Amino acid sequence: MRSDAPLSRRTLLAAPFVAGALAACDRFATAEPAPVAAPPLKSVAAFPIGSAVMAGQLDDPAWVALARREVNQLTPEWEMKMEYILQSPDRLTFDAPDRIAEACHASGARLHGHALIWYSQGEQVFSGFDRTHFPRAFDRYIAEVAGRYRGKVVSWDVVNEPIAEDGNGLRDSHWSRALGADGYMIRAFEQTKLADPEAVLFLNEYNLENNPTKGATFLRTVERLLKAGAPIGGLGTQSHLDIEIPAGQITTLIRELGGFGLPVHVSELDASLRREGVGDLRSRTQRLEQQRGRVIELAEAFMALPEHQRFAFTAWGLRDSDSWLRRGDRDDGQDQPLLFDDAGQPKPLTAALAGVFAGR
Ligand code: G3I
Repeated sequence: MRSDAPLSRRTLLAAPFVAGALAACDRFATAEPAPVAAPPLKSVAAFPIGSAVMAGQLDDPAWVALARREVNQLTPEWEMKMEYILQSPDRLTFDAPDRIAEACHASGARLHGHALIWYSQGEQVFSGFDRTHFPRAFDRYIAEVAGRYRGKVVSWDVVNEPIAEDGNGLRDSHWSRALGADGYMIRAFEQTKLADPEAVLFLNEYNLENNPTKGATFLRTVERLLKAGAPIGGLGTQSHLDIEIPAGQITTLIRELGGFGLPVHVSELDASLRREGVGDLRSRTQRLEQQRGRVIELAEAFMALPEHQRFAFTAWGLRDSDSWLRRGDRDDGQDQPLLFDDAGQPKPLTAALAGVFAGR
C-alpha cells in the first residue's frame, strides 16, 4: 500500500492510539445520566402505552411493579406466536399466552395479540401439508388461536413482516408460495375476522421509518389489500429505530401511514445505541442525543395523528436489560434501547417522552 495512501476507516480504528483514545472517550462519556423524575407514561398519554411481555416476567415483582406503574397494554413478546403454540403438529400449547391474558384481565391492561402469521415461523409444521390440507390447516390454526382469545385481545398482528427485507416487493415465504403473495394475507385477515369480529386487525412491519423504500412498498401493499377487501383495521409500525437516520424520515412515514384513516400502532419501539458491524466513532453522549432525537420525533409524529388513529405506543420491553437486543451474542451489556434503565428507573428520554405525550 502506498505510504501516503489515506488510512482506511478500518485501519484507523484498529490503530492502538485511536482505539485507546476512543475507549477513554467512551469511558468518560459513559458517565451515566442521573435518574430523573418522570410521571407514569400511561398517566400522561391519552392513548394506551404498551410493552412487550414474557410469561416469566410476571414472576418478577420489579417488572410487575414497573409495568403496573407505566403501561396499560401488553404484547406477548413470543409466547403467542406459532413457535410457542405450535410446538408439535398435533397439539397446541397455550399455558404461557393464557397466563399473559389472565394477567391482563386481572390488571385491566389491554392485550394486543402477536402474531398469527409470520414468514419466519410455521414452515416446519406446515411443510407436511399438501395443497388440499395446507389451506385447511392455515384456517384452523387462526380459528383456534384467534377464537381462543376472542374477547380477551383488543387487537391482533394478523400478518407480521410481509415486505421483502430490502423493501423491494413482498417477502417470499411458505405462506406466499402456498396461498399467493397477497392471497395468504387476505385469507389471514378474513379468517381472523371470522374468529374474532371485534378485534382490530393489524398489518405489522419493521424498518418502515429506517428504509423509505420499504415504507413505500408497505403503503402500496396496504392500499392493494384494502382494495381487495382485506379487513385490515390498523397499521403497525414496529419502530425498531435506526438512530442515525435523517431527521424528518419518521415524521413522513407516520403521516403517510395516517393517510389511510386507520388506527396506527407504534408496536415495538426500541432505539439501539449500537451500530452493526463497522467501527463506531460516536461518543455515548452523541448516540444518546441521536436516540433522543429520533424517539421524540416518533412521539411527536404519533401525537400529530388524529386522536382516533392513535391506537397505542408500545415499547419492545420495559427495562434495557429486558430487551432482545441485550440477549445472546449481541449483548455487551452496554446497549440502552428502551425507556427504563436496568434498575427500572426512568431516563431523561422518558421524561422528554412524557412531556410530549402530556402536550408540553
Ligand atoms: O425463554 C426460552 C428459554 O427458556 C429456552 O431455553 C430458549 C431455547 O431456545 O428459548 C427461549 O425463548 C426464546 C425467547 O425469544 C425468549 O428469549 C425463543 O427461543 C426465541 O425464539 C424468542 O425470540 C423472540 C423473537 O421475536 C422470535 O419470536 C424474541 O424474544 C422477540 O423479541 C422477537 O420479537 C420480534 C417481533 O416478534 C417481530 N418484530 C421483530 C422483533 C425482534 O426480532
